[in-house]
Amino acid sequence: MSKLFVSTHPLISHKMAMLRNKDTGAKEFRELISEVATLLCYEATRDVPLCDCEITTPITTTTCKVISTGFAVVPILRAGIGMVDGMLSLMPTAKVGHIGLYRDPETLEPVEYYCKLPADIAERKVFLTDPMLATGGTADAAIGFLKDKGVKDITLLCVLSAPEGVERVQKAHPDVDIYTAAYDDNPLNDHGYIVPGLGDAGDRIFGTK
Ligand code: URA
Repeated sequence: MSKLFVSTHPLISHKMAMLRNKDTGAKEFRELISEVATLLCYEATRDVPLCDCEITTPITTTTCKVISTGFAVVPILRAGIGMVDGMLSLMPTAKVGHIGLYRDPETLEPVEYYCKLPADIAERKVFLTDPMLATGGTADAAIGFLKDKGVKDITLLCVLSAPEGVERVQKAHPDVDIYTAAYDDNPLNDHGYIVPGLGDAGDRIFGTK
């Protein structure tokens, strides 16, 4: 079974309270999503592989540990984009791919409408970003698409998660760890929103409502 990491860090807790507040405007909301993404990125990279590297300091030469794998950040359009800059602030050499999915109204199956990934994506450790893990349908499908492209190492980063989404992703992808800033342990409401939640993350990031 994959790992579910739920942050208990006071900085994240405080920022989550501000994100949940309906009176927080788009500018501040965007900044908070980005800051939470940075803090989650710090946690999610705790176990990345290291290798030895010879470094010459002003005094002598020494063996240091450096990260031995390439990273990619892949936001799920559109709200996942709000987490990218925060991640890149800690991993500036990561490549960025994009995945867009919509649900076919007839079949209810997720359909890929946009996909642009780094050519060497299969060799990279991929951090898939989506602020809201609600039903888990989109994350499940996006992880499936990445696996179809040969990606073997995927971590899902979310700002807020609900039990339904976590269970769906863990069942379909037991190899994918989930890092979330908060977990609302309630059923989704009739509109598929997380409760108490923070509303529509995409609309609040981009000011579209
Ligand atoms: N997507 C959102 O933006 N918010 C939710 O609560 C659920 C899905």
